[in-house]
Amino acid sequence: MREIVATVLENKRIADGIYSLTFAADEETVVRPGQFCMIGLVGFPLRRPIAVCQAAGERVTVCYQVRGSGTRSLARDYKAGEKLSVLLPLGNGFFVAPDEKRIAVVGGGVGIFPLISLIRACAGKKEIYAYMGFRNRAALCMEYEMQRADHLTLATDDGSVGFHGTSVQAFMSELDEVKPDAVFACGPTPMLRALKSAMSGRGIPVYVSLEERMGCGIGACLVCVCNRTGGAHARVCKDGPVFEIGDVEL
Ligand SMILES: Cc1cc2nc3c(=O)[nH]c(=O)nc-3n(C[C@H](O)[C@H](O)[C@H](O)COP(=O)(O)OP(=O)(O)OC[C@H]3O[C@@H](n4cnc5c(N)ncnc54)[C@H](O)[C@@H]3O)c2cc1C
Ligand code: FES
Repeated sequence: MREIVATVLENKRIADGIYSLTFAADEETVVRPGQFCMIGLVGFPLRRPIAVCQAAGERVTVCYQVRGSGTRSLARDYKAGEKLSVLLPLGNGFFVAPDEKRIAVVGGGVGIFPLISLIRACAGKKEIYAYMGFRNRAALCMEYEMQRADHLTLATDDGSVGFHGTSVQAFMSELDEVKPDAVFACGPTPMLRALKSAMSGRGIPVYVSLEERMGCGIGACLVCVCNRTGGAHARVCKDGPVFEIGDVEL
């Protein structure tokens, strides 16, 4: 992990309330799928955690939804040429075992962004079934990136595009035919909870990337602690954000 002063190359709206930000690091940055960065914003004491969507050479791209004052400032105040203080790469990221040849990727909302980097890393090496959920057509983005998967199912809450329902429902409706060796998921907690309950007892490993409020992002402040099954605790920023689904309480 290192702290860099990055230069914003591009910060553009790609869907309703969603932006793609590309910045240049000072040197080549190696980031595993599922790792994240902490972005410092002028006037905000706490950095904001955002998954890395793509890292190529010195260029790093993150995608974010405008939710509160920090992401609003990021969208409004950081045009090309502005400087950003960024900590990266952080967290463990996804690990796909060599014998996991057919994988399912299940994402919802901003949870699709870390999964896009997983799809890119596995394209051509694994057989990928992707199930990606959005609120509606206006929130749909990065379709060309998701199409790197061998099989892509889009789902929307209102049925305006693809499957009418959640990405978990779309995935579960095909699970018995697809029979993945492992499942990788990221999205809102209720979605992950539904996935946990639907996959319980099926003997297929499921790995989830959790979203918790964070203070430091480097394991020091304990703001992000979650409960492990059995009573122990874990720091989402340092021990995660990716966990085996049975390992954590949701
Ligand atoms: C590992 C990780 C990866 C993430 N990746 C992405 C991503 O790729 N794209 C994306 O749009 N969002 C992502 N998020 C969520 C993102 O961090 C929050 O939406 C963002 O911090 C909200 O900041 P704000 O100032 O706009 O909101 P405010 O509500 O004003 O924020 C107040 C405080 O709460 C924290 N906070 C608020 N909501 C969340 C949240 N859902 N998760 C974590 N902290 C939160 C903020 O960081 C800030 O410290 C990720 C979160 C985590 C933990
Ligand atoms: S955010 Fe500080 S320990 Fe995780």
